[in-house]
Amino acid sequence: MKRYVIHGGRPLRGEVAVSGAKNAAASILPGTLLIDGICRISNVPEISDVKLTIEIMERLGAKVRFTEPGTIEIDGRAVRPQLVPPQLGSRMRASHFFIGSMLGRFGCASAPLPGGCDLGERPIDQHLKGFSLMGASERIEDGIVHVSVPGPLSGREGNGRLKGSRIRFDMVTVGATMNLMLAAALAEGTTVLENAAREPHIIDLAGFLNAMGADVRDAGTETITINGVPSLKGGEYRLIPDQIEAGTYMAAAAAAGGDVKLTGVIPQHMDCISSVLRKMGAEIEEGSDFITVRKRNRVAGADITTLPYPGFPTDLQPQLAAVLCTAEGRSKVTESIWEDRFHYTEELRRMGADITVCGKTAVIEGVSKLHGTAVEACDLRAGAALVIAALAADGKTEIGQVGYIERGYQDMVGKLSGLGADIHLEE
Ligand code: EPZ
Repeated sequence: MKRYVIHGGRPLRGEVAVSGAKNAAASILPGTLLIDGICRISNVPEISDVKLTIEIMERLGAKVRFTEPGTIEIDGRAVRPQLVPPQLGSRMRASHFFIGSMLGRFGCASAPLPGGCDLGERPIDQHLKGFSLMGASERIEDGIVHVSVPGPLSGREGNGRLKGSRIRFDMVTVGATMNLMLAAALAEGTTVLENAAREPHIIDLAGFLNAMGADVRDAGTETITINGVPSLKGGEYRLIPDQIEAGTYMAAAAAAGGDVKLTGVIPQHMDCISSVLRKMGAEIEEGSDFITVRKRNRVAGADITTLPYPGFPTDLQPQLAAVLCTAEGRSKVTESIWEDRFHYTEELRRMGADITVCGKTAVIEGVSKLHGTAVEACDLRAGAALVIAALAADGKTEIGQVGYIERGYQDMVGKLSGLGADIHLEE
């Protein structure tokens, strides 16, 4: 069993390069299967979720190869409509994006109900509602979702293409917005997505699709228009930097203290976390593609509520809570996206944190120090929060279940060691 061993109490100093965005790769890699040709994607993070995605792509017939570190070439010409292997697809939330891309290209798709971090209920009803408004019918049998439109492959008369439609989501959903963008790129006619999510990775997906010949407009606003085109061509695309990875290292600097420069970031994507950390007393400096975080004194507590972009991201909620554990005074952290994203607080309490969870809000009374102990990551961002707490704590912390962390962070141990942290991986 792998674990991270961290001796805390050392300030972080130096530069760290931010990797490509996990949640952009999550939809763009499956999106390459829309293309009957070759495309090259760069700035792909080396994380286990990407490895799993590539494995699924290969099982569906794509030829995938790394041309250099972080750049992959995908030849989708031999891709055929077939079941996303259940034992692979069920391990990852983003496997549902293969439904959008296969349905868009072939008019039919089958995939297991997606897995992913345990954050409470994670239905896909909005995805299915969108496909159905575009003329598809679906059934779920033995944990497998089958979606198809009338056409040669479904045995029903039709041309196998989805029909453009107006789709209004009942709530802001990143996954359904992206899945419907994928499905609509090759649909017949115009699709309008209302109440769409506006995260940076939504704009990135639109950028990728347009670079391949699609016609996606107004991504980043709450109404996205996709004019379907008959086919997409191959091409090249570079993924944006990971907003959440960058925010995690900003939080780490605010917790452990020191002076950290994050390079290769888009500072506007970080506005929300920058403004919270500034209010807490950290010094934040921004350049065109870098952010510096300096923290000398104990930070002040803060109240935050997670919201869809441009609000405070739920995927940084646990990491910020870890910083607030040793902030001065009382803080309140309210989770408004997921019903159950406070599992990690139990582990932080074992390190001496004073946290009480009441429904959707965690109340944190800042303590002057946390202490190291043995803890377990229970999901990706929970794991990142424990690393942050351990960097700030007195003594030795051992974090188990770090496979969760490796799903979404490229070389976290190497990056933190480069900043002077005392951290190593034990197998
Ligand atoms: C994406 O999940 C991210 N995952 C999550 O990041 C992130 O927390 C989330 O967006 C919100 O930003 C990936 O990109 C792989 P949603 P997703 O659809 O798409 C409800 C991480 O740590 N909903 O925006 O699954 C849902 O239950 C991960 O990197 C429905 O009710 O999230 C939730 O309450 C964890 N029906 C809310 O909407 C649906 O059909 C937002 O979910 C879809 C969603």
